Amino acid sequence: MSVLVTGGAGFIGSHTAVVLLDHGEDIVILDNFSNSSPDMLDGIRRITGKDFKFYEGDMRDKALLDRVFTENKIESVIHFAGLKAVGESVEKPLEYYDNNINGTLCILEAMRKYGCKIMIFSSSATVYGNDNPVPFVEGMKTSATNPYGWTKVFIEHILEGVCESDKEFSAVLLRYFNPIGAHKSGLIGEKPNGIPNNIMPYIMKVAAGEYDHLNVFGDDYDTPDGTGVRDYIHVVDLANGHLSALEYARKNKGAEAVNLGTGKGTSVLELVAAVEKASDRKIPYVITARRPGDIAECYADVSKAKRVLNWQAQYDVDDMCADNARWALKQ
Ligand code: WQD
Repeated sequence: MSVLVTGGAGFIGSHTAVVLLDHGEDIVILDNFSNSSPDMLDGIRRITGKDFKFYEGDMRDKALLDRVFTENKIESVIHFAGLKAVGESVEKPLEYYDNNINGTLCILEAMRKYGCKIMIFSSSATVYGNDNPVPFVEGMKTSATNPYGWTKVFIEHILEGVCESDKEFSAVLLRYFNPIGAHKSGLIGEKPNGIPNNIMPYIMKVAAGEYDHLNVFGDDYDTPDGTGVRDYIHVVDLANGHLSALEYARKNKGAEAVNLGTGKGTSVLELVAAVEKASDRKIPYVITARRPGDIAECYADVSKAKRVLNWQAQYDVDDMCADNARWALKQ
């Protein structure tokens, strides 16, 4: 029996693949390399000393999905594959709705066709929108301010609907906060194509001298130092959370949304200081206007993850920055 990891060559997917293989799971990876590269697959093999089947292609290719499900006994799916750049989603909404939602429907149709009834879904704290108070709690109303966020909201509802119609189906909707860091080996990490949308890979390019400064998007928020506060979580903690979710889904039916965060907020300037300490490099920055759509604070209530998955984050921001520097700066 195998676990299908869609988007398994990506940042969170590759780290989760390592955890699954280290835990003795058989995995199959499907990835189209739209925001990843084959060298991540080599990194997974070098870290674990194990191999796995890999299919290159798009999750909307139904003939490819038939091959995956007929050539392997897929017991469960951990579904990472998806486009995830907020700004890009505003410029290209149709591409985001087609790729993320139609892609997920193709995966779910293949699962139904071949009798696979467990999905761990890569959701996001973005589903809490702009109107909820922090810390965010799973039962809060969900909404979005951009097409990327709406795809996550819609797919959560699709999975709730599948579980309503098929009482044997299990779905855990993991709402990630802000994943950063890298595997301690330095062999896998975040490597976005093009100019990074997220802060940590951008800071790392400043530390590496590729960019001369960081633009801090606003210092006039109602936060301790005026800059945006986020719940940064180590990608290895996140990967372990997927294994805990899979073990839970194997024993429980129905749909459950669970926050994967640390429950602690860190401001942009605090993150910059932590990177400077970890990398021993100066990170010059310029305060600029707020980025449209940003919220002041975003951090998790993590009690449900502990209660339901028996999972909690182990690493702090200093660990995340040290591991990130080792990966990005080969320190
Ligand atoms: C973090 C903080 C910015 C860049 C997004 C998605 C979310 C998830 C994680 C996919 C904010 C500030 C950033 C920069 C800055 N993605 N910042 N200068 O926006 O919290 O979350 O990524 O699952 O769904 O919404 O992450 O890293 O872009 O920003 O000052 O060059 O850093 O204002 O306060 P965000 P981010």
